[in-house]
Amino acid sequence: MDNRPIGVFDSGIGGLTVVDALAKSLPNESILYVGDTARVPYGNKSKARIQEYSDEIVQWLVNENCKMIVVACNTASSLALTHLNSKFDLPIIGVINPGVYAAIQATKTLSIGVLGTRGTINSAAYGKKIKLENSRISVISQACPLFVPLAEEGWISGDVPKAVAENYLAIFKESNVDTVILGCTHYPLLKTVINEVIGGDVSLVDSSEATASIVQSVLKQKELSAEGSVGEVHCFVTDSPDSFSSLADRFVTIKIQSISHVDIS
Ligand code: DGL
Repeated sequence: MDNRPIGVFDSGIGGLTVVDALAKSLPNESILYVGDTARVPYGNKSKARIQEYSDEIVQWLVNENCKMIVVACNTASSLALTHLNSKFDLPIIGVINPGVYAAIQATKTLSIGVLGTRGTINSAAYGKKIKLENSRISVISQACPLFVPLAEEGWISGDVPKAVAENYLAIFKESNVDTVILGCTHYPLLKTVINEVIGGDVSLVDSSEATASIVQSVLKQKELSAEGSVGEVHCFVTDSPDSFSSLADRFVTIKIQSISHVDIS
């Protein structure tokens, strides 16, 4: 048993989709969330920069006595996870592998689509892991950079997001893809419009839900699960908490106990 918090971080607000899934499936666990709002977006930055930012955040969470780290950001998971695991001793998991396992379970046509930021798609992290698990699966990837600002603006239905989705998702039209990984923290907010454009028979894999169940098994396996406690969620942002507070409700249904500013770099 270990009642210390789980540390979760993202480039900004989007990682709250992972916090939401974690808090719902692990109600005894407390979560410290860092949103690097001063340096968002990560999606178009270099690998070296993402590793540097991720290092600083994980060190801060370790200093705050976290027992485990979840890299909620797909871009940081793609570009910095191996580096973080070589540097820190505590369990650190990202969102790529959980999303891949869930997609492999879902596909019947052995053809998987991956959506993500430019950084995630250019790293080919999802494609490489899928091929490693099953080399017969074909992968079609598509960067969807405009989905992030649309989600942050709350522009998640109507003509504009639909037109953007139609443009990005046209790549899947003539394909055999029956499963698509939403490989970015913000994309679950656009699930309805993505579903509408891509067709209801295609399964959409939300990495946040898949990650929560892997976190649960890692905690059990390492005997780190919290017991007899009621989990709390405390958020720390590197820019002003004001805009984070006003947007947070779009990303979570759970209760957030506090939102404060922190200087990390
Ligand atoms: N959190 C990022 C991700 O999941 C999306 C936002 C950004 O570009 O920083 O890849």
